[in-house]
Amino acid sequence: MRRLIVERTDAFLGRCRYVADLGAQRIASPTLVARRGDRMDAIVENRLPQPTTVHFHGLTLSEAQDGAGFDAIGPGATRALRFEVKNRAGLYWFHAHPHGFTAEQVHAGLAGLLVVTDDEDHALDTALALAPGNRLVLALADARVAQGVLRPYAPSALDCLHGWFGNRALVNGALDARLPVASGWVRLQLANTCNARGLLLAFQDGERDGASVPFFLLGTDGGLLAAPVPLERVFLYSAERVDVAIDVSGCRNVAAVSMPFDPRHQTRGGSLAHRHPAREQYPPLAAAGICAAPAGEAVDTLPDGAGIALFTLNVGGAARAAPPQLPSKLSTLPEAVAADATPRRIRLDFDERAGFLIDQAPYRADEIAFSVARGAHEVWELRNSPISMPHPMHLHGFGFRVLRRRGTFGPARALAVDGSGRLPTDLGIKDTVVVWPNETLWLALDFALPEDAAFRGRQRYMFHCHNLEHEDGMMMRNFAVT
Ligand code: C2O
Ligand code: CU
Ligand code: CU
Repeated sequence: MRRLIVERTDAFLGRCRYVADLGAQRIASPTLVARRGDRMDAIVENRLPQPTTVHFHGLTLSEAQDGAGFDAIGPGATRALRFEVKNRAGLYWFHAHPHGFTAEQVHAGLAGLLVVTDDEDHALDTALALAPGNRLVLALADARVAQGVLRPYAPSALDCLHGWFGNRALVNGALDARLPVASGWVRLQLANTCNARGLLLAFQDGERDGASVPFFLLGTDGGLLAAPVPLERVFLYSAERVDVAIDVSGCRNVAAVSMPFDPRHQTRGGSLAHRHPAREQYPPLAAAGICAAPAGEAVDTLPDGAGIALFTLNVGGAARAAPPQLPSKLSTLPEAVAADATPRRIRLDFDERAGFLIDQAPYRADEIAFSVARGAHEVWELRNSPISMPHPMHLHGFGFRVLRRRGTFGPARALAVDGSGRLPTDLGIKDTVVVWPNETLWLALDFALPEDAAFRGRQRYMFHCHNLEHEDGMMMRNFAVT
């Protein structure tokens, strides 16, 4: 890729997209593929009327390449994108991250996928005897659709409080996605790129009255697990990824759905409006967002936790002989180990006037909440207050391991796989983890950074809620690695 163009395609509805310029051809809304160790060397061109950044979610990058919004790319400006992919094979993603504009730009379509591969990853495809086309890489988002048309992003104070929820799923940008696959194993790498919606992913056999089709969890945010885990459903909150294998032999069509669940959105106060001084200098992406929706065109949204259809796998071709057994070992993943150090305590709170808080403070761009020594091993104790919401908390730059959960709410606890209360997705490397109201999580972190020149000196990173309305609503802190 020579250039990554960030452009608006519809000024009325405010739709945007990434275009990869490869020299000989241009690919709109590209899914990038890299092998571990590959280099990215491209120019980002911002053709939006707003500042933007390109953040590679999940990758370990220097502050200058992290695209976290410390130094946004102004309208009409360009910026070099130059780094080495050092992370494990897995599904990562890239998205806009200019503070105050993140939710609007991601919702507009500025989110793309990056698949990182390596030998272990290819060996798995071979072991599954995947038919061509049976490995799918999908971004799951939601949008408000009325009369077949996407509504622009214009969040109310209530949307700012709970998050912006749509009424239909968008899969790689398309409504009603139907994906042709062949009989046998299907490997799905799925990213939840919704602004705020949590998904309780399950598969249903369309021919057998929606009977649940079991699947195997192969990997999480940071790549493959040590061994596959058999499941019937899995939580996937905003920014989380899963890698799953599902045997569709004997099925004609398999529907991927988010099952209904109680997401436990509770607040004492009623609403929250975002005020961003930066926003006053730039127009919104959608002209239509300025005026209210035409009368009688109110859009019924589906709240967080509502059941929603995601996509359908249409199984073609003759059923083949039984697909091969899943390998019992997927990757070399060390056990999560806790450092001896006393945990760093981090509290998540909501205040009717101040909004969402991390350790009682709203985001300040110029503040560094704490510093960590390069190479340090830490344990973080993340506690969400009892009257709260599920917060998918994301750490830039460093994958982490979940050690233990306490106070987990029922539907999530029902999925626990061990005595520490860990969920199936907690068995892998994570960069985003949902913390339910009243829950406490213990995370193991390793702040080793590459020895590169790019990483020399102090590096600033962010820790924030990936409900993007909460993120723009100041539920974010900066920290430094020194
Ligand atoms: Cu996916 Cu700070 O971002
Ligand atoms: Cu990130
Ligand atoms: Cu949140």
